[in-house]
Amino acid sequence: MLGPRDDRPALPSSPMSLVIENGWPRTAEWTGGELRLGGIGVRDLAAEFGTPAYVLDEEEFLARCALWRDALPDGEVHYGGKAFLCPQVVRWLDAAGLCLDVCTGGELAVAMAGGMDPARVVFHGNNKSVAELRRAVAWGVGCVVVDSFTEIERLAALAAEAGTRQRVMIRVTPGVTAHTHEFIATGGDDSKFGFSLNAGLAAEAVRRVLAEDSLELAGLHSHIGSQITDLGGFALAAGRMAAFLTACEDEHGVTIPKLDLGGGLGIVHRPGDPVPPSPAEVVAALRAAVPSRVRLAVEPGRSIAGPTAVALYEVGTVKDIPGVRTYVSVDGGMSDNPRPAMYGAAYTAVLASRASDAPERPVTVVGRHCESGDVLVRDLPMPADVRPGDLLAIPASGAYQRSMASNYNHVTRPPVVAVRDGAARVIVRRETEEDLLRLYV
Ligand code: LLP
Repeated sequence: MLGPRDDRPALPSSPMSLVIENGWPRTAEWTGGELRLGGIGVRDLAAEFGTPAYVLDEEEFLARCALWRDALPDGEVHYGGKAFLCPQVVRWLDAAGLCLDVCTGGELAVAMAGGMDPARVVFHGNNKSVAELRRAVAWGVGCVVVDSFTEIERLAALAAEAGTRQRVMIRVTPGVTAHTHEFIATGGDDSKFGFSLNAGLAAEAVRRVLAEDSLELAGLHSHIGSQITDLGGFALAAGRMAAFLTACEDEHGVTIPKLDLGGGLGIVHRPGDPVPPSPAEVVAALRAAVPSRVRLAVEPGRSIAGPTAVALYEVGTVKDIPGVRTYVSVDGGMSDNPRPAMYGAAYTAVLASRASDAPERPVTVVGRHCESGDVLVRDLPMPADVRPGDLLAIPASGAYQRSMASNYNHVTRPPVVAVRDGAARVIVRRETEEDLLRLYV
């Protein structure tokens, strides 16, 4: 089922390649104290679509795709679908000329539903099931990133059974520890992902893939982690991977055409956060470490989707505990943004629905879930007259929020509303209690 081809947005023109690294999408503006996104005021958005909601700036999404594509015109940009995926995102990627990285059968199903060309899909995962692998081979995915010796055998058998030769990349852990939260660092030797370079497992994986007639070695892959804001780790991993690639080519007398160096570029969440390098700077650092005959691929997720969306909440209660803290409770929380609780991620929030000249005082913005760890923003300066009915906006909410949202406490997951040129449309609808109850027998 193909998406509607004729409503594709035009490719962004050059001014859109100017990226604003302050966490807000480019169309964010303030009119009389009210935040506007894509030309629409947040009060109108809340009235029409309800809260909580993720409001996604379509221009920002397309511009970020274009920025990566233009940074690597002779390579491949695979959007990391885990950051945020839905059929409309697939159609934007298609329009922008990007490929897609999926890591489960579910993400594969969304790629199919969005009409993605299977040849432009790369399939990741450290424990893909036989059924998922079979479906990927049958659909004709461009590349499977093999992650274990078991998987090499399984995939070789499945491809042989299907009478095809499956292109694969081998996921290598290059022994690089990224400067990020340990839960999202993936490139060290002690990792569930891939084959360790230092332990010699990567070299063995290359041998085994080359020995399988039904597999074609299309490249090597590494991904060192996520929310990385300096170039050092990227350059180090690229250098090690390039040296390994060359050594494998020499040892086996083959050409390994591609090096996929994963995603991981971080974003700004709040004022004062380190400003990450641009896609062009990342690509330049990678290119400097990799021979020019090798085709480069990258897999940005967060750095495309993250700054595109703003999470919009309504304040329900304000609780002052004299001498202790002021709690501002909103109508969402850890179910729509688990990142503060999981990774200690720090966000900011602003009063978005009106102007206030009240003095600021620190408040803690919390959600509606039944546990104390349900904190969205701690010790945030906020006008002292913040009150029930106000709207709060949290920028940089486009990546790993809707995609990691849960139904904890039977809360329904918020919609994603795309805004552009004064028009808004739902691209992921709000979940209903009916949706929740449908599962129960
Ligand atoms: N490629 C591979 C193989 C990956 O594992 C990932 C992310 C990406 C690309 C995209 O990375 P990005 O450019 O988005 O950093 N839930 C965590 C992030 C986990 C990232 C997992 N892998 C968070 O909320 O911070």
